[in-house]
Amino acid sequence: MTNTAQTQSHIIDGKMLAEKIKGDLKIEVDAFIAKGLRQPGLAVVLVGEDPASHLYVKNKINSCKKVGIHSVLKQLDKDVSMEEVKDCLRKLNEDEAIDGILVQLPLPKHLNEEEILDIMDPSKDADGLHPYNLGSLVQGKPGLRPCTPLGIISLLEHYKVELSGAQAVVIGRSKLVGKPIALLLMEKNATVKVCHSRTKDLADEVRKADILVVAMGKGKFVKADWIKKGAVVIDVGIHHERKADGMSLIYGDVDFEPSAKVASLITPVPGGVGPMTVTQLLCNTIYAYKKRMGLN
Ligand code: GUN
Repeated sequence: MTNTAQTQSHIIDGKMLAEKIKGDLKIEVDAFIAKGLRQPGLAVVLVGEDPASHLYVKNKINSCKKVGIHSVLKQLDKDVSMEEVKDCLRKLNEDEAIDGILVQLPLPKHLNEEEILDIMDPSKDADGLHPYNLGSLVQGKPGLRPCTPLGIISLLEHYKVELSGAQAVVIGRSKLVGKPIALLLMEKNATVKVCHSRTKDLADEVRKADILVVAMGKGKFVKADWIKKGAVVIDVGIHHERKADGMSLIYGDVDFEPSAKVASLITPVPGGVGPMTVTQLLCNTIYAYKKRMGLN
């Protein structure tokens, strides 16, 4: 991505919107404190030494500080047992100062992710990944929603993208992004098709999309000539590459430069969806706090 591309008005500025929402959250938290209420609290459980996860978690903790959310980091050894992780979550479930809990994914292979997420109190599930919350999403009931899909909807609404009646194509079917964003787009009356690695004629499917959400996990996978002229493109992918000169290159699942010439709106990587994911985590924590405090 060049600076020229970044200054074009059709490049979605996730960083700017994320900062604006954080500013609004800070005002809300300051008002709670001024009323004599306690601080909202978020606990992050981080298992192992994956450098990307450490970086994401650091970002989440720093963002909490910026808006006045009390944060607790529970760092567990990569060889931790299931019972120890569950025990940690049980304690956080009972902790009165904690409103939101997040278990950073992926977990080391010896740990059973489903069982761990099941232990969490659904009312503190800041990631919206507990079966109760995913079930309420399918049922269209209010509740905590996964952060990246919430961030995508927030971006689309901020940029006034017409969702009702739009043909949306989602590439990826993960619990974290693909499935929940498909449901949220349906809730907004879009017609949604979910594609994935086994989809036949994927490029042809993408060509029909007014709104394209790519959460495939393959760098620069979606090419510009797959994209319908004027489509809105949301890139959830994030890939890091170390160049020969030691500089780090970051890019998404979409071949950005040529695609930006075809799309009417497109998210850059970095600076698109990523900052919104963190911000929605803070929004979910405040949502859970207000529910526990009887404020909504
Ligand atoms: N790992 C990558 N993205 C996420 C996320 O949104 N939530 C959690 N818990 N782990 C992640």
